[in-house]
Amino acid sequence: ETRSNVVFGEGNPTAPLVFVGEGPGQTEDATGRPFVGRAGALLDECMGAVGITRKHVYICNVLKCRACITEEGRTRNRAPQQDEMDACAPWLRQQLEIISPLVIVCLGAPAANSLIHRNFRMTQERGQWFTSSPFCRYITAALHPAYILRQVGDSFQALRQQLIEDIDAARR
Ligand code: URA
Repeated sequence: ETRSNVVFGEGNPTAPLVFVGEGPGQTEDATGRPFVGRAGALLDECMGAVGITRKHVYICNVLKCRACITEEGRTRNRAPQQDEMDACAPWLRQQLEIISPLVIVCLGAPAANSLIHRNFRMTQERGQWFTSSPFCRYITAALHPAYILRQVGDSFQALRQQLIEDIDAARR
């Protein structure tokens, strides 16, 4: 009801590495492409720092449609609801089955909760590698770039560096 375009996912369908985010934001909804707003620019920058580009990976989201709320004429993103994640799950499952990557990096807690385990705690478990996924050999979670963009100063720099290191580990 709140989407303009479905954001299915895009990239190299034979990539060994898949990023799974939370869901489309405003720019993604407007263009139909994943991670093309500010968070996407940070993701591109961090991939670039370890020598990879979008041609090397596939990028998609747990939600295929923007979850947002309009209050007093202003529309903002909101966290996905479980029923929305369940509704999108068949598409995510089938795209991961078709791509069959070696590695999946979950960006943010909703993806980690959907794909690693239900009680995933980002503060305790980010950067750990799990081998329990039916979709890939190795799966991990990193902080969502949109979360990093909300930090300032040293905290922003430290978390940006951490994302680069998490992506580098996935590349290796
Ligand atoms: N944030 C996400 O989780 N996914 C996108 O596609 C864009 C921003």
